[in-house]
Formats: sequence, structure tokens, C-alpha cells
Amino acid sequence: MILLDNVSKYYPGYKTPALEEINLHIQPKEFVFLVGASGAGKSTLIKMLTREEKPSYGDIVVGGIDYKCMKKKYIPYLRRRIGVVFQDFKLLPNRTVYENVAFALEIVGVSGAEIKRTVPKVLELVGLSEKAHEFPGNLSGGERQRVAIARSMARQPKILIADEPTGNLDPETSWEIIRLLEEINNFGTTILVTTHDAEVVNQLKKRVVTLSHGRIIGDQKQGGHYDLDGSRTRIAKRSLGGPAPTQVVQPNPAPTQIIQTPTAPVAPSVAPTTARRVATPAAQPTARRVATPAPRTVAKPAATSTSGSAVLEQMRRAKAADTAKPKTVAKRRSLYPNAK
Ligand SMILES: Nc1ncnc2c1ncn2[C@@H]1O[C@H](COP(=O)(O)OP(=O)(O)OP(=O)(O)O)[C@@H](O)[C@H]1O
Ligand SMILES: [Mg+2]
Repeated sequence: MILLDNVSKYYPGYKTPALEEINLHIQPKEFVFLVGASGAGKSTLIKMLTREEKPSYGDIVVGGIDYKCMKKKYIPYLRRRIGVVFQDFKLLPNRTVYENVAFALEIVGVSGAEIKRTVPKVLELVGLSEKAHEFPGNLSGGERQRVAIARSMARQPKILIADEPTGNLDPETSWEIIRLLEEINNFGTTILVTTHDAEVVNQLKKRVVTLSHGRIIGDQKQGGHYDLDGSRTRIAKRSLGGPAPTQVVQPNPAPTQIIQTPTAPVAPSVAPTTARRVATPAAQPTARRVATPAPRTVAKPAATSTSGSAVLEQMRRAKAADTAKPKTVAKRRSLYPNAK
């Protein structure tokens, strides 16, 4: 499960947030596309999940780990639970395909015997058994991305997060990578992928979360399409005259009520279409926020059973005595069924 509850992110020195009041709940085994124009905040959201960046406000829970309670020493444990894939592959150029994957296991203390058993299985999974002893420089872009996926899957994470994994690939190779991610999803791994590839998003008809200027403006639970400004969703809703086929999240859906102090500049509850870093301050007099908003009081949680606050509250109660302490990871269907 991935849960962001009212998460905002202000990068140091910036007065406008890169992410603002993000509420997102991704269930185990879901496949979710995260889309948005350049600068919308996709990578920032991913960095929150991988703990490369910390939120300025709000709570994050990933795979049962409540980040607020997580001590620094448990970050490697978190990285075992989340696999991450990037657009630029980030492979070690002086190591072979096999060694790149093996290294990912070595650094988290997996035994030599287990590495020997696991690496060939993961390379088989991504269709690269034949290239095990090649160096990344001798591989195509698609093959390099497969190595990167193999490397993140070697630890059998429950969640795989990919930030524009097809950004450097041609359309055909992109499809191969997306199909591989689908296959991994079928094994029970939760997948969150950012992309600019409208064709892939529209054909796969998965859940699509759309970010605009740091806010979620659309969350199409299924049959989602690439719709950066929400206009298609609104048209579809109107022309059907009935319940919308997709769910549109209002620009300011905060599940918690924020009580502003009188001195705090209040962002209007209108779509923050011009509120980002674009240097036209005069044109956006009302949409700016200060980097240090006044203290906030969290009022009662939203009533929906799946709201971030409700889920978080449930989890906290269940785990009252046990914060981020590593536990034995529950058994689930293995990616490598033939592994000894
Ligand atoms: N380290 C940083 N310091 C300050 N501002 C940052 C930093 N990283 C990102 N930003 C800003 O935060 C906003 C969101 O950036 P982010 O990289 O998350 O966008 P994105 O949706 O991933 O864009 P793209 O599709 O181009 O990758 C942008 O305005 C960007 O300039
Ligand atoms: Mg990005």
C-alpha cells in the first residue's frame, strides 16, 4: 500500500510548493500511471516515496512503514521493499549485467549463495539471460532498462516505482518495457509509473492519476486516459449526462480541515493553474503560498473509509506499539517460482 495524506513539499528557498495537499491511496497490486506536464511534481512525488526527499507537511506510509516514525537506520530496509527504476537506468558501467544485479543484493547483505540462485532467475524474468556477461555499454536502451528493472526486482520488492522508465526509448521498446511491468504487476507487485507517453496510458486503461502544478487534478480509477488538464474528463462527464466514467478529484480535496490563522495567506480553492514557479507573479496575486505556513490544526478525518487519514488512523491504532521496526516479511507469491 502507498498512502500520501495531505502531503505538501516546499523545496528549500522556494515559496511555492512543488506538491500541495496530495492525498493518494494506492492499494497493493494496483498498477497506476502518474501523469502531468513537465514540472507538475511527478518526480518530487516519487522522491517522497523513496525517501530521497522529505515532505514539508503530511504523512506518508509505504508498505506498512509510516515514514514519520521511521528511523534513519531503517532506510535500507525501506529500499528493500521498494524497487525504483529511472529514465537514465543508473547502471554501473564497469560491471556486467549479472554483476549489476548481484551488486544490488550484495549491498543489502544477501548471502553469496542466495545471489547465485536469484540473479539468473531475475535475468530470465526480464529476458536477459543471454546477456548476463555483457557490459551496459554493449546493450540497447531497452536492454539497459531491463537490467535496471531486474536490479530492482532482485530484492523482490512489494512495490516497484518507475520514473519515466520509457523516457529514453523508442515506441516499440517502450511497449516492451511496459509489458514487462505489467507482467511484474501480475505477480502481485504494486506498480507506480510516471510517463509522458499518452499512447501507452490510453491503451492500457489502468488507473491514471494526473498532477498539475503540484496538485492532483484527476484520479481515474480504471479505464484512465492521458488528460493533462482534465478537459476530456469534464467533456465525457457532461456528454454522458450520468455518473462520470472517471472520478475527477477537485483541486482542493483536502481530507483534513485546515484551520488557518488570521495572518496566514490563504490559497484560494480554485484550480492553481498559474500558481507555479513561472515567473509571472503579477498575474497570480492570490495563488501564492508562503514556505512556512502558519501552524495547522488537523480537524476530524474525512468520512470515506478509504481516505488517507482514515487508513492512516487505522494503521496507527493497529501498530500502536510497533513503529517502523523491521519484521519478517510476509510470504507472498514468488516472482521466481522455481527458486529453491
Ligand atoms: N531540488 C529541487 N529544488 C528546487 N526545486 C525543485 C527541485 N526539484 C524539482 N524542483 C521543482 O519542483 C517542481 C516539480 O518538479 P518535478 O521534477 O517533480 O516535475 P516533474 O513532473 O517530474 O517534471 P518532468 O516531467 O519534467 O520530469 C518544478 O517546478 C521543479 O522546478
Ligand atoms: Mg520528472
